[in-house]
Amino acid sequence: MPRTIFVTTALPYANGSFHIGHIMEYIQADIWVRSMRMSGHTVHFVGADDVHGAPIMLKAESEKITPHELVARYAAERPRYLNGFHIEFDHWHSTDSAENIELSHDIYRKLKAADFIYSRDIEQFYDPVKGMFLPDRYIKGECPRCHTKDQYGDSCESCGAVYSPTELIEPYSTLTKARPVLKTSEHFFFRLSDPRCVAFLQAWTTGTNAQGNQHLQAEVLAKTREWLGTGNADSDANLADWDISRDEPYFGIPIPDAPGKYFYVWLDAPVGYLASLKAYCNKQGIDFDALLDPAGDTEQVHFIGKDIVYFHALFWPAMLKFSGRKTPDNLHVHGFITVSGEKMSKSRGTGISPIRYLDLGMNAEWMRYYIAAKLNSRVEDLDFNPDDFIARVNSDLIGKYVNIASRAASFISKHFDGQLAYLGDPQALQQELEQVAQEVRSDFELREYGRAVRRLMAHADQINQAFDAAQPWIMAKGISSASDEQKAGLQNVCSRALAGFKALTVMLAPVLPALAHRVAHELFGETRNYLWADAGVLPTQIAPFKHLMQRVEPTMLDDLFEPPAQALPTPGGQPIADAIDIKDFGKLDLRIARIVECSEVEGSDKLLRLMLDVGEGRLRQVFSGIKSAYKPEDLKGQLTVVVANLAPRKMRFGVSEGMVLSASHADKDADAGLYVLQAWPGAQPGMRIS
Ligand code: MSP
Ligand code: ZN
Repeated sequence: MPRTIFVTTALPYANGSFHIGHIMEYIQADIWVRSMRMSGHTVHFVGADDVHGAPIMLKAESEKITPHELVARYAAERPRYLNGFHIEFDHWHSTDSAENIELSHDIYRKLKAADFIYSRDIEQFYDPVKGMFLPDRYIKGECPRCHTKDQYGDSCESCGAVYSPTELIEPYSTLTKARPVLKTSEHFFFRLSDPRCVAFLQAWTTGTNAQGNQHLQAEVLAKTREWLGTGNADSDANLADWDISRDEPYFGIPIPDAPGKYFYVWLDAPVGYLASLKAYCNKQGIDFDALLDPAGDTEQVHFIGKDIVYFHALFWPAMLKFSGRKTPDNLHVHGFITVSGEKMSKSRGTGISPIRYLDLGMNAEWMRYYIAAKLNSRVEDLDFNPDDFIARVNSDLIGKYVNIASRAASFISKHFDGQLAYLGDPQALQQELEQVAQEVRSDFELREYGRAVRRLMAHADQINQAFDAAQPWIMAKGISSASDEQKAGLQNVCSRALAGFKALTVMLAPVLPALAHRVAHELFGETRNYLWADAGVLPTQIAPFKHLMQRVEPTMLDDLFEPPAQALPTPGGQPIADAIDIKDFGKLDLRIARIVECSEVEGSDKLLRLMLDVGEGRLRQVFSGIKSAYKPEDLKGQLTVVVANLAPRKMRFGVSEGMVLSASHADKDADAGLYVLQAWPGAQPGMRIS
């Protein structure tokens, strides 16, 4: 039975480029969508940029551009990534679109009419300098439990304590360093705690869809049980109502009839799924309302990462339900991609930039294959490991799969003019291929991609073994003068291998769409792309084999890893200055000097007056801003270092003929002190330092 499925991926914040985590999510969803389409189902697959919220507003402000300009910059680069990795959304939209504003308003009004919205005054930290309420992540201070400084407003990275920003000791705004003040304002809330809502969520989270599948994966359901309780009377969990409004200044959608109030970004973000679909429907002439009729049988599936389950498993279904809309049928939650076992981090230089991957000329389908080979239906993290990547692509994908075609096709082209023929019972072969494809298809539907890949690679092994066992290269010796029987034998061995190769191509088509397209059209002369039903159809002819896929060069992976961002370490509070060469250094004439006299300077609270012996047969006068750190008697008689060729400078108290070297932290407020350089005993005044 053909199904109609509405599929989304999480809407990425539009304040940055796609990273490999985004691409992984899109590849996972794209594989699923392609596989479902190959089964004959109708799939509408949409995405959008999530453009609202304080971080985007503040980032734009710091760059002196409008939020729209900031968002436009990232929106403009999306197609390069998506096309580059063969990720085929039907439509890509934005949460500040007319459709989203209208849909968000409509949903809000309906929730309000059903008495799910109320307002009350709350007290919150406010930055009096910036003139805005501060989200928790913009407030820092000392942890009330372990007293570590500079901890975020909601939790301590040092001891793990969770608290509210008002509990911080010495709180400050990260925007202005000002001490935030408590200020009252009216906020709007969604009644998540309403018994109707709790009952609905109990049912929805434990429910199944029309296919008989649970809405939620087991781990995700377990999480919602923690939040919701089990529904038993003795369960102590209770849901807090959800604060859905933010005060201006905010980049968001204005709340109807509430001047100065905006929807919190997480209210309108998931509505963006509907907005994108609606824009797509309008373009295609599809009836959006009919498509998402709550009584209809369109399935609604959201691919998301494990960090945003709360929003998608509680708020979103509840919002939809009580505004009279269709609720989701499945959340497909994935884990995070890590790189060589570590969380991605630009500063440590382990991040893989998807665009760099493409720019290096690395094949997007290697990445698709690798990610597929490592994904399963559970909420598990997935590690990108360079050696593993090389092994899987070179040994499995190319060594086992691609090579079947390159080995078998040449015999067929050379000796049989591209014609395939089978001996024995072709129906048995057909059934065998159909059987494997059927299992692989079902693995894809269940998002057991790793299992699918293992299964089809095991079949590739079988094909290779049968081919090797038959020793076609021996059969081919003297073939032109061989018997018809010997010829038919060789043709059969190669045809069976190629039929297997074709079936494997069908099975890999969701993962390797570009390669499968080439195999179908160029090698087997098909006029359309493969469907699952094609796996068991035995091919009858081939065109001459053309090279299909390059191996990964291990050096490519060295180039892939980004060097750490900038020269991040800032010893002494400042980064090391730009490189100079030895000639530049030679311009400085540094000499050993003895401090013969040292006195305070009347009228200056910073300077000391030094009389220095630099071995010139006279004394130099140098004024130095070191009074805070030394008393004149501390310095008298000591050896130090002076910049001897610094042009003399006339100061209010006299001429200064050089500069004494001293060390300090870049941030004078760091209280790290001030230290005059001293030479080891034995150095003589006038010696040059080099
Ligand atoms: N804007 C919200 C989602 C709104 S959905 C209505 C958001 N954006 S995000 O850009 O931070 O994340 C987008 C998706 O990328 C999420 O599903 C998130 O889980 C996923 N990932 C972010 N980092 C990831 C990895 N390291 N690995 C895999 N997916 C990751 O959240
Ligand atoms: Zn702490």
